[in-house]
Amino acid sequence: MLKTVGISKSFSGVPAADDVSLSLQAGERVGVIGPNGAGKSTLLGLLLGTVLPDRGQILLDGDDVTRLSPHQRVSGGIARAAQIPMTFHRLSVSDNVRVPAVHGAGLRGREAVEWVDEVLEMCGLAASAKVAAGQLGLLSRKRLELAKAIATRPKVLLLDEVAAGLTEPEIETIIHMVETLSEGRAIMWVEHIPFALRSVCERLIVMDKGRKILDGPFAHVWDDPVLQEIYMGVPDDNLS
Ligand SMILES: Nc1ncnc2c1ncn2[C@@H]1O[C@H](COP(=O)(O)OP(=O)(O)O)[C@@H](O)[C@H]1O
Ligand SMILES: [Mg+2]
Repeated sequence: MLKTVGISKSFSGVPAADDVSLSLQAGERVGVIGPNGAGKSTLLGLLLGTVLPDRGQILLDGDDVTRLSPHQRVSGGIARAAQIPMTFHRLSVSDNVRVPAVHGAGLRGREAVEWVDEVLEMCGLAASAKVAAGQLGLLSRKRLELAKAIATRPKVLLLDEVAAGLTEPEIETIIHMVETLSEGRAIMWVEHIPFALRSVCERLIVMDKGRKILDGPFAHVWDDPVLQEIYMGVPDDNLS
């Protein structure tokens, strides 16, 4: 459904994506790990269109979307929950979700209102609908970032560290939400928390220095000695 063919992107001569080819099937749930600076966020940015590649192609349902804007790709069914949330702090939670419901999913009037309510319910934000987004704590900000992505009704949901910085019970909440939200759609989930990825994803991609190093069934990739090598020097509890 979504496919990249040899995409590359350098920043000031340093490769953040280096000849990355991958494909994501409808309904597939793929985890992405790799050290800081490996190019994970860049990869999601390339898929969404906030980052344009120096080389290579991106295909959505067989159509070349490489030069399409993020807005055009959202209309085509791609959405991302960003690592650094972009919320309108003074707007209510519900108005923040209305923006992608209208401009991403293309809904109007009552249909938009009902869909926003449904999304808030799914994301555990119904009680905070009227609260200004700037007043939210971290877990609710993460919920809102997911809600905004889902509001566009994507076929492919890209998640960038939506569980980072949370406590273990909060991470469990996010895992449960991602499981629910991934029903009927493909997800690509970048996260440093192995147990979160393991409970949701059947496939795992490992990135390092802009390159896709490993890609395959979760357990298979997890046991690959190359993965341990990449993480050498990283405290054990980040990997267990
Ligand atoms: N907008 C940008 N401008 C300059 N350098 C960038 C930009 N985005 C990412 N980079 C660089 O690209 C590399 C990969 O970054 P990133 O994709 O954010 O990695 P990750 O998400 O895996 O931590 C890093 O070296 C980072 O500094
Ligand atoms: Mg990142």
